Amino acid sequence: MKVLVIGSGGREHAIVRAALASPRVEKVFCAPGNGGIAQEAECVPIGAMEFEKLVSFAKEENIGLTIVGMDDPLVEGIVDIFEREHLRVFGPRKNAAILEGSKAFSKDLMKKYHIPTAAYESFTDAKEALAYLEQAEFPIVLKADGLALGKGVLICNNLQEAKAGVKTIMEDKQFGSAGNCMVVEEYMIGREVSVLSFVDGKTIRTMASAQDHKRAGDGDQGPNTGGMGTFSPSPFYTDEVDAFCQEHIYQPTVDAMAAEGREFKGIIFFGLMLTEHGPKVLEYNARFGDPEAQVVLPRMKSDMIEVMEACIDGRLAEIELEFEDNAAVCVVLASDGYPVSYEKGFEIQGLERFQEARGYECFHAGTKLTQEGKILTNGGRVLGVTAKGADLKEARANAYKAAEWVKFENKYMRHDIGKAIDEA
Ligand code: AMP
Ligand code: GLY
Repeated sequence: MKVLVIGSGGREHAIVRAALASPRVEKVFCAPGNGGIAQEAECVPIGAMEFEKLVSFAKEENIGLTIVGMDDPLVEGIVDIFEREHLRVFGPRKNAAILEGSKAFSKDLMKKYHIPTAAYESFTDAKEALAYLEQAEFPIVLKADGLALGKGVLICNNLQEAKAGVKTIMEDKQFGSAGNCMVVEEYMIGREVSVLSFVDGKTIRTMASAQDHKRAGDGDQGPNTGGMGTFSPSPFYTDEVDAFCQEHIYQPTVDAMAAEGREFKGIIFFGLMLTEHGPKVLEYNARFGDPEAQVVLPRMKSDMIEVMEACIDGRLAEIELEFEDNAAVCVVLASDGYPVSYEKGFEIQGLERFQEARGYECFHAGTKLTQEGKILTNGGRVLGVTAKGADLKEARANAYKAAEWVKFENKYMRHDIGKAIDEA
């Protein structure tokens, strides 16, 4: 079978590799892909939002399965368009991708179906939001309703910051139309865990847990980013936490979507906060996490393609997911200055070290392959260096060792990815 992966980041590189590992796959294409993906799959210069071109390409190449990695095309309905053309595609339809596409929708869903989450109010009027905030307790969290590259969340410590936040989101529209509606949410304290899952509309199978590091700097300082590194599993995600979430969060979410006539097939990513009152949902995403995928997929023993096909066909109940009994850590190598401003176009050296090293992977995020075969930096997040180990400590030591194999001008990384595991 030929597979088409849509997207261009480290997540898509991890998906491409997992697809190539399936005995059922003869060739993988990626649109638009990046410099690293181009060395393993055939990259096609079609953007993730160019639905008509993607459909034509899938027909011409006789693609047996298209996997959508990114949120934007899902929220805009790419799956509906592929299905209408009788093309097999993995991901939620537009009416289900709203689980990620609208925070107001997902909060209302959780409230209606008693799924634990932070208390909240939604506003479409800035004046009403301000009146509410005058009475609120701080800190408090403001969230732009729509997609905002993970940046539409503001944690405000006092009324002054909250007023500035309302201006940023609702008046200045810094996150564009994502800020037409705003959710004001109770601030939760606890450890964050990401749990990704496969869903076939009825059945849900969760993958190994992971933890992201969203802030740019060591010690969780600096601005929010797409994610600077991950580890899997999370030692804080105990069997007891898992049992609670399976019963009160995961299956109820799938059932709620079905009850609303929004059957969800694809990946649900649960962003959880483990609070002193139990696990609560921070957010839902309708796709793999990036860089969560770079630690979770390398640990998965099950054939990803088989699992995805079972989701499409509603046969997931027949499948048990299997993961390696080890740990993985991913350190993101970024361009210095990310996420604010940074230079790109620098040559990357040392990548060949990964070809021979078992248990080490280098996923490309923002890279470009030149005609001479050089790899250049081409984005904020450049590479994700993943290493496995018998346990998290070993995996972390390996990941930081491998992070030194790679050299490029402007290379920046956090040095404390996985440090939290010392407290476990
Ligand atoms: P989100 O995009 O909703 O996951 O939010 C981005 C980040 O903001 C999360 O990963 C949390 O670190 C933080 N955050 C979001 N909502 C809350 C909340 N209600 N309480 C505390 N922190 C939050
Ligand atoms: N790493 C968080 C995300 O993919 O949204």
